[in-house]
Amino acid sequence: MLTPTDQSCLHQRRHQLGQQFEGQALLWSGVAPSRNFAANQFPFRASSHFLYLAGLPLQNAVIGLEAGQLTLFWDEPHPDTALWHGPSLSRAEIADQIGAETHLPLSAVSSWASHAATLPVPSSATHQQQIEWLGRPVPPIQGSQDQESNRDHHLANALIQLRLQQDEFALAQLRQAAEITVAAHLRGMRSTLNHTSEAAIRAEIESVMMAHQCPTAYASIVTVHGEVLHNDAYPHALAPGDLLLVDAGAETPLGWAADVTRTWPVSGQFSATQRDLYDLVLAAHDACIAAIQPGVEFRDLHLLAAQTIASGLVDIGILKGQPEALVERDAHALFFPHGIGHLLGLDVHDMEDLGDLAGYAPGRQRCDRRGLRYLRLDRPLRPQMLVTIEPGFYQIPALLQNPDLRQQYGDCVNWDRLAQFEDVRGIRIEDDVLVTPEGCQVLTSALPTQAPEVEAYVQGSTA
Ligand code: GLY
Ligand code: MN
Ligand code: MN
Repeated sequence: MLTPTDQSCLHQRRHQLGQQFEGQALLWSGVAPSRNFAANQFPFRASSHFLYLAGLPLQNAVIGLEAGQLTLFWDEPHPDTALWHGPSLSRAEIADQIGAETHLPLSAVSSWASHAATLPVPSSATHQQQIEWLGRPVPPIQGSQDQESNRDHHLANALIQLRLQQDEFALAQLRQAAEITVAAHLRGMRSTLNHTSEAAIRAEIESVMMAHQCPTAYASIVTVHGEVLHNDAYPHALAPGDLLLVDAGAETPLGWAADVTRTWPVSGQFSATQRDLYDLVLAAHDACIAAIQPGVEFRDLHLLAAQTIASGLVDIGILKGQPEALVERDAHALFFPHGIGHLLGLDVHDMEDLGDLAGYAPGRQRCDRRGLRYLRLDRPLRPQMLVTIEPGFYQIPALLQNPDLRQQYGDCVNWDRLAQFEDVRGIRIEDDVLVTPEGCQVLTSALPTQAPEVEAYVQGSTA
């Protein structure tokens, strides 16, 4: 249920949207997709733009927005539904909760259809409904110039301006997601010595989220093959010399996410080689967080991480040359191929349904340089933005065994030295960082990052 603060933030969001966007907007919440037949469904997740302005995850609802006023379009469930799913609130009660000035049956959406802007939802069934009810195409928002004059694009830009900076309602939710996620990772660390498989650690971690009625915000990564960047399978046994990479985040029942990664030794103790590279990734993580403040370009943080990693790899003897020149050649990206982070909010990659429109400042586009192409955020930081900071080091066969790359970077990698670090497949350290007027606050700082503390948790020797 929404608190009075939540309700006043929702009202304020709609008021601000009304100031930035003229005309009518319709936003669909979506429906639960079927698994294999209609009555057996995947869990429902409402569209994030809907959640941002309505607050509650209502299924099969549409909201209409005009000049700060909210209309709820929703059909009360058929009375027979109560037999299977229990009683539900009436439309009037829900309208009261979310502060809707007007509430109407779904069919009344037709009276708004000819003028309203909208944003396409990812679910294909609901997207089809948008197209049919509006009687026009609803293409994905991509930020292309030919879309700039259209009403959907204007709505997207207005919503981005609001969602880039988190308000009090959002921050309460995001702190809750962060807190539960920290507890889940701690459970994972503390239970590792009791288990022998990735799957069992995943179960420990997700059990903490489930106990708080939180789903995962994305498919958890719990793997001894951290070099597979989006590894969402859990088939491996744990071996004593392995590093376990865990990237897992809770989503609150109202839809707000955390996104956290830790890497720990399955035995409770890093090897010397693992520790060297762990400390290097941590140095990049700490340097970026120390540099965060309003006005700082996120791209510069990415380059700071690249520079820190290149410089450390030269010190260790894996890379050869001047760190600045290595970064200019994107040699660091052989080992740190992804971006330093992204926006976080209702979506784990917040507003990525809008392509790069949210992540990239107006006039900016992705750079095709190897070391920059996966950067998801290229904007100056503002107070109340929430971002992730997530440097990593990986030995990815698809990169390191690629003959073209081996030739291109043959002069700057000491392959023999690299071979001594074969017990490091993947390390990432990721925290959720709120930009404040003075600098930043790490919402997930209660989860240890220093190697001795991580080891102590895994060994169970920290209260
Ligand atoms: N968990 C996905 C990411 O870190 O971006
Ligand atoms: Mn992330
Ligand atoms: Mn992550």
